[in-house]
Amino acid sequence: MRRSKISIIGAGNIGGTCAHWAAAKELGDIVLLDIPEKEGVAKGKALDLACCGPIENFDSRIIGTSDYKDIAGSEVVVITAGLPRKPGMSRDDLVQVNTGIVKSVSEKVKEYAPNSIVIVVSNPLDAMVYVAWKVTGFPANRVIGQAGALDVARYKTFLAMELGVSVEDIQGLLLGGHGDDMVPLPRLTSVNGIPISDLLPAEKINAAVERAKVGGGEIVKLMGTSAFYAPASGTIDMVEAIVRDKKRIIPSAAYCEDEFGVAPGQKGKGYFVGVPAVLGAGGVEKILSFKMDATEKKFMDESISHVKDLVGVVRKQFPELA
Ligand code: NAI
Ligand code: 2OP
Repeated sequence: MRRSKISIIGAGNIGGTCAHWAAAKELGDIVLLDIPEKEGVAKGKALDLACCGPIENFDSRIIGTSDYKDIAGSEVVVITAGLPRKPGMSRDDLVQVNTGIVKSVSEKVKEYAPNSIVIVVSNPLDAMVYVAWKVTGFPANRVIGQAGALDVARYKTFLAMELGVSVEDIQGLLLGGHGDDMVPLPRLTSVNGIPISDLLPAEKINAAVERAKVGGGEIVKLMGTSAFYAPASGTIDMVEAIVRDKKRIIPSAAYCEDEFGVAPGQKGKGYFVGVPAVLGAGGVEKILSFKMDATEKKFMDESISHVKDLVGVVRKQFPELA
């Protein structure tokens, strides 16, 4: 059987943890790439992980490098390169420095892995995925942002903690941008089909929503840097859906025009917003649109408007990306 090749750019906390999950799930061969000054870290993490193979029974080949030639032939490239938040910073504070980083990485991805599907993780996510799309020039179905997979996992975790039930039995969605204005959908949240509103009072549901919205910040305050286990886990869930062509429905930052009223009728002028996306071998194979009620629509419109503002900042600072 042909082995998939997964390249991860940025061998820091999220990149290294992505490599860990991808190897443990034996999703393919893995390339962990960082800047030349950090090549030792990339090589060291790769070697350390490879030595887990005999214990965990995976035979993924894992290499560390700073040479983009090594990403040639990748089916998926995950971009985690960029600065993480420090306490007191918002994701948006990272826009200028991370646009420069994601731009330079995307140029290399375009050159060395022109047929890959790109998953962007770097923050501010909704703007960085736009940058990767603009710079690579890849069709929009091959550029995706990871945020919803993480945000919905946090939401489900907090609900399960409140209910004292397994996280496996919570179904739910969170859409919109990866910001504090992500869009909660308690109406579509259930516990094995039982509406969440039958099991918890509105204030408890809202508390889970609010905690999910600021879940990233809660962890930054505790650790002094960004979360990485769950962000990497969400990312590798998306990678798995793609390399195994699973047609999973995972909330992802996907390119939208008419969908959810993001940029109606504006061909080529859409934005990447968190929506339910069918992920398979073709990347984003479909976006599942559905009718929102008036409150949900209001939240979604606000979130979309924030994504547009962020992309506006990128366009202003980097006119070549307009
Ligand atoms: P980290 O600092 O541990 O790792 C980032 C790595 O990127 C470093 O090893 C650095 O050397 C590398 N890097 C910097 N410039 C590079 C370049 N030009 N080429 C290749 N590698 C380069 O940071 P961490 O915690 O892994 O976070 C990575 C990014 O992900 C941050 O922007 C963070 O804000 C974001 N993030 C996104 C989440 C999401 O759900 N989308 C959740 C949490 C963090
Ligand atoms: C998170 O949500 C900071 O985006 C990062 O953990």
